[in-house]
Amino acid sequence: MATRRVLECETYEDSKHRNAGKDVHVSSASKVEGQEKDPFGIPEDQDFGDVPVAVRETDHYQEEYVAGFVEKWDELIDWESRAEGEGSFFIDHLKERGARRILDVATGTGFHSVRLLQEGFEVVSADGSPQMLAKAFENGRKRGEILSTVQAGWRFLNRDVHGVFDAVICLGNSFTHMSRERDRRKALAEYYAALKHDGVLILDHRNYDAILDDGFSSKHVYYYCGENVTAEPEHVDEGLARFCYTFPDGSKYHLNMFPLRKNYVRQLMTEVGFQETSTYGDFQATYQEDEPDFFIHVAEKEYVERAA
Ligand SMILES: C[S@@+](CC[C@H](N)C(=O)[O-])C[C@H]1O[C@@H](n2cnc3c(N)ncnc32)[C@H](O)[C@@H]1O
Repeated sequence: MATRRVLECETYEDSKHRNAGKDVHVSSASKVEGQEKDPFGIPEDQDFGDVPVAVRETDHYQEEYVAGFVEKWDELIDWESRAEGEGSFFIDHLKERGARRILDVATGTGFHSVRLLQEGFEVVSADGSPQMLAKAFENGRKRGEILSTVQAGWRFLNRDVHGVFDAVICLGNSFTHMSRERDRRKALAEYYAALKHDGVLILDHRNYDAILDDGFSSKHVYYYCGENVTAEPEHVDEGLARFCYTFPDGSKYHLNMFPLRKNYVRQLMTEVGFQETSTYGDFQATYQEDEPDFFIHVAEKEYVERAA
C-alpha cells in the first residue's frame, strides 16, 4: 500500500490541489473490481468478503469509512446532543493543564477539532481517511472554522505530522480500529512522541469489558446520539467486535473493531511510557465497572519521581 507524506497544517483543499494528477493514497480497496472508485481509491460500498468476521486488519478502516457512511456519520453522532452529553469534560481537562496546541489524531467528521477551535485552542486535525478529512473540512467551514488537516496513519504519525503538542486526543472509539497489538503499541508510542514532556493523551473507547462479559446495552446518551439510528454489535469475541449501524433510510454499514478491555489499554499506556492514567466512565471519576457505555483515559507523560 502506498501512502503519502503531507505537510503539517496543510488544508484538505490545498492537499487536493497539490496532489491533482498525482498518485495519492492508494488503498487495497482500489483493486476491488466492478466497484465505483473515488479519486482516493476508496470503493463506494463496503466489502467484507465472504466471511466478514474474519476481517481483522488494522488498515481495513479505510475501506469501512466509504463515502455513504461518512455522509451519514453526523446523523449517527448528532453534534448538538453529543456536545450536551459530554459537556465541557475535554475542554476542562485541557484548560486545567494549560494546553494550547492540540493534535486530534482521529478527526473523523471534525466534531472535536471544531469544538476546540471554537474554544480558542490551536488544532491540527489528522486522520488516515481522506473521506473523513474532506467531511471535517466542510463541517468546519460551515461553522466558520478552517481546519488544518493532515492525512496521517497513526503508525506513521511523526513522519507526517511535525511539531510537538500539549495534548493528543484520540476520541470517538477510534483506537479500537487497531486490530493488532503490535500496531496498538506503535500507535501509542507515536502519540507519546508527538507530546511535549508534560503533555497529555486523551483516548476513549466503548466499555468492551461489559459487552464481552455481560452482553451489549446502551444508554444512547453519549457519542452516538442520533435519533432513529442504531449502533449494535452483530458479533463479539475476544478479538473482534463487529458493529452494525442502521439509518432511518434503511441503509446499513458495518465496522470491524478490536474490543479493547479497560485495564489492557491502561497497561499498554504504562508500557509505552505514560506515567499516570486516570480512567473516567461516561465522563465521571467514580462508576461501577459495568455501568458506563464509554471509558475515557487521560494519560500523563510528565515523569513522576517514585521511591524505588
Ligand atoms: C469512529 S471514527 C471517530 C471520529 C471522531 N473522532 C468522532 O468522535 O466522531 C474513527 C476515526 O479514526 C480514523 N482511523 C482509524 N484508524 C486509523 C489509523 N490507523 N490511522 C489514522 N486514522 C485512523 C478513521 O478514519 C475515523 O475517521
